[in-house]
Amino acid sequence: MRIYLDFNATAPPAPGVVDAVCRVLRDTPGNPSSIHAPGQQARAVVDDARGAVAALIDAAPSDIVFTSGGTEADNLALRGAADVLESTGRRHLITSAIEHEAVLATSAALERRGWRVTRLAVDASGVVDPAALEDALDDTTGLVSVMHANNEVGTIQPIADLAALSHARGAWFHTDAVQTVGRVPVSVQSLGADLLSLSGHKFGGPKGAGALWVRRGLKLEAQLTGGKQERSRRAGTENVPALAGLGVAAAYARNTLDQHQTEVARRRNQLEQRILADVPGTHVNGARDQRIPSTTNISVDGVEAELLLIALDLEGIAVSTGSACSSGTLEPSHVLKAMGLSASRARTSLRFSLGPETTDAEIEAVIARVPPLVARLRRLNHTATSVGERAGVRRHPRAR
Ligand SMILES: Cc1ncc(COP(=O)(O)O)c(C=O)c1O
Repeated sequence: MRIYLDFNATAPPAPGVVDAVCRVLRDTPGNPSSIHAPGQQARAVVDDARGAVAALIDAAPSDIVFTSGGTEADNLALRGAADVLESTGRRHLITSAIEHEAVLATSAALERRGWRVTRLAVDASGVVDPAALEDALDDTTGLVSVMHANNEVGTIQPIADLAALSHARGAWFHTDAVQTVGRVPVSVQSLGADLLSLSGHKFGGPKGAGALWVRRGLKLEAQLTGGKQERSRRAGTENVPALAGLGVAAAYARNTLDQHQTEVARRRNQLEQRILADVPGTHVNGARDQRIPSTTNISVDGVEAELLLIALDLEGIAVSTGSACSSGTLEPSHVLKAMGLSASRARTSLRFSLGPETTDAEIEAVIARVPPLVARLRRLNHTATSVGERAGVRRHPRAR
């Protein structure tokens, strides 16, 4: 049996999604911008999907801009806002140190074109202090972007407070809600943000389909220019089959929100408590109360997370590390570092992320496999260290 505990990376397709994508791809060949009947059928598919996504976040359908996913939604929010705000002299962006790369790299790009960027620190549990935002805000702040929940540790930020503080100083507020939409109730009305990013493949939709919600009346500069699709906010013929799947996933996610708060959270807690109890030297990273139900991030003393990940994968269990693997180097997670964890502890951190399809039997199987695998890796590590020390071998920094 293969066990998939990497829902924060991508959730498997929700029921009905694959059928909807295939059916629309096969039976709805028209272009939604065409006036004839096949075109209007495609338009109806896009409209239905827009309605389902809007309902999931308590928004009006016309305020949804479909994108190719969370990364593009974040780019449209930050770059689209920056293009408009620049002429007002407000060229200061405030974000947090634990954002996803989609926001981090886009903030850095704005910095290169002359924006001042403040990256707010987080506390040991991964939370931004509203007082720190208040201190950082000034009359030149144009935009504040703080994620709703973090993808690695799951910590939820006090978005309504942060948005209110930003508005009080005349700044716009964006939140990357890619990890919360479909997992906890999200209402754009009560969050009070101006811009909110979401991504379909995190809640059972196809990869490459997402949206940016834009508060009515707020003008953004389109980043993809061309036709008048998405009310001139994002040009290009819509990915109609993927949007059909996104709509089905959004409806499914809305119906399983309760299940997340109860069953998914219960299974996550069960997994976490048993690992903490059965494996000495384990620690949970991040807040345990203000957290999305899917996620637990656990450090295992003395065991490189990549090795444990591979060992689990060989047993058919898919999990993730917080490390970003780029150009062949494994950097310790910027999120865990920002929370004050040492590089060596960050390298021992594993993320388990569950979804509504995760079963009790799967959790029991993982609980049974983790302790012996950790014991084996610790034994190997110990042996390798003593052999190395006897031979006078200097250990690679990553192996510490
Ligand atoms: C918090 C967060 N933002 C943005 C993204 C990017 O979304 P996408 O994969 O749809 O581009 C992800 C995906 O991992 C994420 O977790």
